[in-house]
Amino acid sequence: MASGLPTSIIIFGASGDLTQRKLIPSLFNVCRKGRMPKQFRIIGYGGTAYTDEAFRAHLEEGVKKFASFEFKPEQWEDFAPHLFYLQGKYDTLDDFEKLSEATTKWEGDAGNRIYYMATPPGIFPHIIDLLGITEQLTENGGWRRVVIEKPFGIDLDSARVLNEQIHKTLNENQIYRIDHYLGKETVQNILVTRFANTIFEPLWNRNYIDHVEITVAEKVGVEHRGRFYDGVGVMRDMFQNHLLQLLSLVAMEPPSSFEANALRNEKVKVLCSIRPMNSEAVAQNAVRAQYKGYLQEDGVNPNSKTPTFAALKLQVDNWRWQGVPFYLRSGKALKEKTSQVTIQFKEPPHLLFNASDGGLNPNMLVLFLQPDEGVHWRFEAKVPDTISETRPVDMEFHYADSFGKAAIPEAYERLLLDTITGDASLFTRADEVETAWGLIDPILEAWKSTSQPLAAYDVGSWGPAKADALLARDGRIWSMLDGRKE
Ligand code: BG6
Repeated sequence: MASGLPTSIIIFGASGDLTQRKLIPSLFNVCRKGRMPKQFRIIGYGGTAYTDEAFRAHLEEGVKKFASFEFKPEQWEDFAPHLFYLQGKYDTLDDFEKLSEATTKWEGDAGNRIYYMATPPGIFPHIIDLLGITEQLTENGGWRRVVIEKPFGIDLDSARVLNEQIHKTLNENQIYRIDHYLGKETVQNILVTRFANTIFEPLWNRNYIDHVEITVAEKVGVEHRGRFYDGVGVMRDMFQNHLLQLLSLVAMEPPSSFEANALRNEKVKVLCSIRPMNSEAVAQNAVRAQYKGYLQEDGVNPNSKTPTFAALKLQVDNWRWQGVPFYLRSGKALKEKTSQVTIQFKEPPHLLFNASDGGLNPNMLVLFLQPDEGVHWRFEAKVPDTISETRPVDMEFHYADSFGKAAIPEAYERLLLDTITGDASLFTRADEVETAWGLIDPILEAWKSTSQPLAAYDVGSWGPAKADALLARDGRIWSMLDGRKE
């Protein structure tokens, strides 16, 4: 609908970090690739005082610092005149009227609009209310889309309240809830690996797969986000969104198409099949820990019990996955930054060969999400010049080799482009967010009332021993493969 109309992208919270680091470098890249609408404007809205010129200079600095592509002044000169700034408050009707006036004046008869909420989470429902009151969300000839950053709520109740609140003004198909992991090429490649190849899907089930591991490890600690993080912790920051999204993509049934609702229906079905945990199950199957030194971080309460690491063993109760454990872990201040999904296959039923180190090693398919993006396939090979010894070897695909080092765009670039083109398949739907909270809430509740102490782990380790014990109890270990080092 209305794709040829002038398009305004209005960013609330435009003086903040996200705009300078991610949003503008990504939009600039979309523009460099010739993918922006013919007529577009990006309007930054925020509390800080900027002239248009000063705002452009601030963003130019960000692009030079944070963009993954080479800065070319002539390209910036083409892009920068599309950037504007409006100083305003988030609760003042007059300021919203001004925004409305400025946008309408530029658009003429009709225009398309994206409103991007890059503000702290408590603020966006008020912004949406004021946009509604000033009729900026009324689709009179052009479309209106609203992008909402995470976190979406802090538990199931608050997520429901938020959904109800925004549904008063917006239809679900106008809402684009961001989970930036879905914008990552390698995350989308999970679906391509599964559904664009015939060799994996017949094996992708309880008959052949022993277990699945999902690791999202970060080397950095909380950095300058101590105050925010301390009120959130790893479950809300990483599991409720990114890790459960990864699990859904690995475990979902093939959708009927890649249309947004077809895809999201299948993801929701997986989330609904995950066995919820009561407090005994949490004690058994969930591990939480905090890195040593966290309490001394800026903005962190010195008595904080906020976990910076967690590991879970989840069961997906459906025909495909019954009995196949999914082990998930994520944490800050770990040994390395790496995100990988390991599909570990079952051992051969009958051993004919002498394995070099005690037994045959199970086949593994490892999807490397970052930083060395690619796919590794581990299988047994015969050791030359032996009668029948075997050893595991890896067949490796690296994105950088096949598509060039600069081929992978920033996750936000894809997500912003999808917002412009109206494709919501990589955004989370209301029921998806609520179902995910429904799984996380009981874990947080159980941790709140447990008498078990919070484990501590060394900075630069792989987390607490308890996380290893979670697998060791089942006769397994975390099977990390190394990516290629720079
Ligand atoms: C964000 C979390 O959603 O994801 C951060 O709030 C985390 O705490 C970040 O550092 C990790 O993203 P990426 O893309 O670096 O893996």
